[in-house]
Amino acid sequence: MLRTGGIVGALALAVPATPAAAPPPFEILRWTAPGAELAALSTQPAACLGSAAVEVQAGEALFNSPRLLGGQAAKAGLSCAGCHVNGRDNAHFLMAGVSDRAGTADVTHSFFGAARGNGRFDPVTIPDLARPGKVSRDPAGGALESFVRDLIVDEFAGREPTPAMLAALAAYVRAIAPCPDGDPPGRRALDDQLRLIDFALRGATGMARRADPVAARALLAAARHQLGLIAERYPAPPFGAERRELLAASRVLADMHDKAANSDGFIAALSAWRAAFEKDLVQRLRRREARSLYNPANLAFVAPQQDNR
Ligand code: HEC
Repeated sequence: MLRTGGIVGALALAVPATPAAAPPPFEILRWTAPGAELAALSTQPAACLGSAAVEVQAGEALFNSPRLLGGQAAKAGLSCAGCHVNGRDNAHFLMAGVSDRAGTADVTHSFFGAARGNGRFDPVTIPDLARPGKVSRDPAGGALESFVRDLIVDEFAGREPTPAMLAALAAYVRAIAPCPDGDPPGRRALDDQLRLIDFALRGATGMARRADPVAARALLAAARHQLGLIAERYPAPPFGAERRELLAASRVLADMHDKAANSDGFIAALSAWRAAFEKDLVQRLRRREARSLYNPANLAFVAPQQDNR
């Protein structure tokens, strides 16, 4: 089942009559192995970043945005982070035509984009980007930048990223590190989305200042995707009002796309948006998080679904 990602798609489909009869379609379940739904929805590998630079934050926001990719991936709502959760790996990843078992993917297949297909179905284990791998992370050679560029454009049929977008993605990948105290299991929470929205907005402001409207727009799209993920966790009823406000907030960001070339007006509009978002809606979402589907206790209805497959 493929549909357009983002908040409009999420809102159109995620309106169950009763949770037991029609569970909300969580985007993540499109690439989650049967039986691992609850784990994928409520846990994630821990991430510890070696830097708090705005560039790294912009890179993390882009890394989590399906709009960075094109074709099948964008349609499914799959971002870099769908496979590399929190920049790490994804033991639960399973997608027909892409994986042969959970935790694997073939990124040289023509499923996502025709350019890079090698004609063979040869999935490999999704690597943890916190560990050294095949691709050199040395900034001097630029090997990481060109690897990521080819991944986006050739494998995932995405639009050519600007040099600043590539630099941000590479800076993020270089900053991913194992946690100092080992890797405590991470829980999924509203804060994941709020943090990425914050990173996307900071990044968009920075990109507008350096006159890169393409990157600024990509970061707006990244923020909107996170709003859609919040909406998945606050089903109506009882969260009808919050969902309407999330949708309205997403539309305001969408309307800013055209302003991205005028840096002053754009930055002012972004900060007005942020103030309005944080003033009331974020407070309410936070207060009611325990009643939302971020709370694993409220996700029990996902489990019976597994037995019927
Ligand atoms: C469909 C799952 C999937 C998606 C989406 C994905 N990757 Fe990967 N990634 C993989 C797999 C599998 C490999 C290992 C490929 C290999 O070893 O040939 C990999 C390898 C990498 C590596 C090299 C790691 C090393 O060995 O040094 C980097 C860096 C990377 N991915 C970054 C990204 C970025 C950035 C994006 C988004 C633009 C992305 N990936 C999207 C599955 C994915």
